[in-house]
Amino acid sequence: MSNLLIRGRTHSCGELRREDVGAEVVLFGWVHRRRDHGGRIFVDVRDREGLTQVVFGPDIDAAAHTAGEQLRSEFCIAIHGKVIDRGDNANPNMPTGAIEVEADALEIFSQAETPPLSIADDDRIETGENLRLRYRYLDLRRPSLQKNFITRSKIAFVTRRTMTEQGFLELETPYMVKYTPGGARNFLVPSRLNPGTFYALAESPQIFKQLFMVAGFDKYFQITRCFRDEDLRNDRQPEFTQIDVEMSFATPERVYAAMEQLIANVWREVAGVEIPTPLPRLTWAEAMGRYGNDKPDRRFGLELVDITEETRGCGFRVFEAAPCVKGITVPAKVAAALTRSQLDKLTDFVKKRENGGAKGLAWARMQEDGTWQAPFAKTLSPEVTATLGAKMGAEAGSVMLFIADAWHTVHQVLSALRLELRDQLELVPPGTHWEFLWVTDFPLFETRDDGTLVAAHHPFTSPRLDHLELLQTDPGKVLAQAYDLVLNGNEIGGGSIRIHRSDVQARVFEILGLSPESAQQKFGFLLEAFKYGPPPHGGIALGLDRLAMLLTGAPSLRDVIAFPKTQKGQDLMTNCPTPADDAQLAELFIRSTPPAPTPPPGTAGA
Ligand code: AMO
Ligand code: AMP
Repeated sequence: MSNLLIRGRTHSCGELRREDVGAEVVLFGWVHRRRDHGGRIFVDVRDREGLTQVVFGPDIDAAAHTAGEQLRSEFCIAIHGKVIDRGDNANPNMPTGAIEVEADALEIFSQAETPPLSIADDDRIETGENLRLRYRYLDLRRPSLQKNFITRSKIAFVTRRTMTEQGFLELETPYMVKYTPGGARNFLVPSRLNPGTFYALAESPQIFKQLFMVAGFDKYFQITRCFRDEDLRNDRQPEFTQIDVEMSFATPERVYAAMEQLIANVWREVAGVEIPTPLPRLTWAEAMGRYGNDKPDRRFGLELVDITEETRGCGFRVFEAAPCVKGITVPAKVAAALTRSQLDKLTDFVKKRENGGAKGLAWARMQEDGTWQAPFAKTLSPEVTATLGAKMGAEAGSVMLFIADAWHTVHQVLSALRLELRDQLELVPPGTHWEFLWVTDFPLFETRDDGTLVAAHHPFTSPRLDHLELLQTDPGKVLAQAYDLVLNGNEIGGGSIRIHRSDVQARVFEILGLSPESAQQKFGFLLEAFKYGPPPHGGIALGLDRLAMLLTGAPSLRDVIAFPKTQKGQDLMTNCPTPADDAQLAELFIRSTPPAPTPPPGTAGA
């Protein structure tokens, strides 16, 4: 039986300082690095709190030194020894760098094979992500990832405290729920006890948290997992965590206030940063108009300028013919980087967009004398260029970039171009710059190409109360009491005030083309609940993973989710998902009919 284990550790590996010199300590941890120097062995011992240099030597303790010779990377060990001042050899780059521990006892809890990925090289890690995910438990040993999870844990802690202090109850909702159409694609779970039927994994607690309000719980929150069978990206996982919130007698203002308290506390306590509140706000229309985007990154300028009016009859066919013409002005001090070949590349960029790009990019460089250098300059009169230049806020050396197209294309393309220029021209200086924004007054409905209306958020989202009239006359124009919270161009939360009046709900269903019968069939339990005195209510959900990703500066959600899925929805460590065998399927009364496997890339027909 191990003596040091029973004795227990005295300090973490990140703790010892010059004040501790002379202390007898016990440390537990892993061999991070090991160096042999003329008889002395130096070992950096690592735990989640940090690293401490431990020295073995024949002059310190012969037995410990002999035992120390066996140590290799990632052995799990305990050491006992005395804290020594490193004096001139102090390492200023290590929090514990002023000291080292002279080991007089070593216990090896377990040995390690040579790890398939280097943990000690951490930030210079070049290991492919697949290998990292395959050996995730080793990947997670890397100090940079450990830091992310310590941060994530702090966010969860501050959230629980702040929400509880504000009078919210932490309540749980089921994960296995009734399938309701609309929203994200659901994962289905077959019910063995009810052959031929399925649960859905909850894409969010939405309906249940509303029922909590009907139940009189007044204020609810939950840090909860949500499941969505979506196409994955760096900021999306099939299971992710929400800080889910609902409150009775809510107005948007009360929701904003509760969330701003949470954001302020999290940033203060986790990042040591004061976030001034109230947070800035923009209406959806303004965000779209100025940034082409409902989650604008406002850490830099390059706002969209509308020149549709000014270009009517201007002489340039491309502008005159388009329903919408807008541009952005790259200021002279950074525009020098936009050479002719860069502008050609940007033209390719705007043409080759995923959902159909623009037909071209009209660029113009303002010269010293105020005239324009542009492929189409000769088509515009000096009066027109003067008017446009002034409206664009251009000065000598500025480059103006214009898109003329349908409203939707202009905004989508200029928004993407703005972000591309942010990255290319490095418009956002590195470091931590937190630009929060509430985007408010979203449209209640979106118009499909065939002219039908669909719910923009979900069908329980309340219209603005001053738009109830419009709901009867011109529903496409109705704005919702819906809001998103945006941070540095990322949507970190979204919510709304809900409908609690049955006449308003009936009208929304009617607009959505949902008959009373099918509404009853799909959401009957909620509609029924609303017959029994529902309070006015509303709420929001914040994406905890996204908050953690942004707070830690991680490039992907995979760096803040301990056991994430790949882009293909696989867990490479446990090798999941797996086929089910026939007996299992038979018990569930289901049959699996996967398509024939696709041939490997490079072979015919791939
Ligand atoms: P919504 O669908 O907007 O709202 O989700 C809220 C927030 O959750 C985060 N999020 C995700 N994070 C990681 N991976 C995903 N696949 C993913 N999908 C969403 C985002 C998003 O802002 N029930 C409503 C909330 C409400 O109305 O109260 C809802 O779920 O940060
Ligand atoms: P063209 O007259 O078609 O050769 O176009 C003249 C310039 O306008 C070129 O630089 C094109 O890239 C650009 N252009 C063409 N179509 C558009 C458009 N829809 N919006 C903005 N610029 C365009």
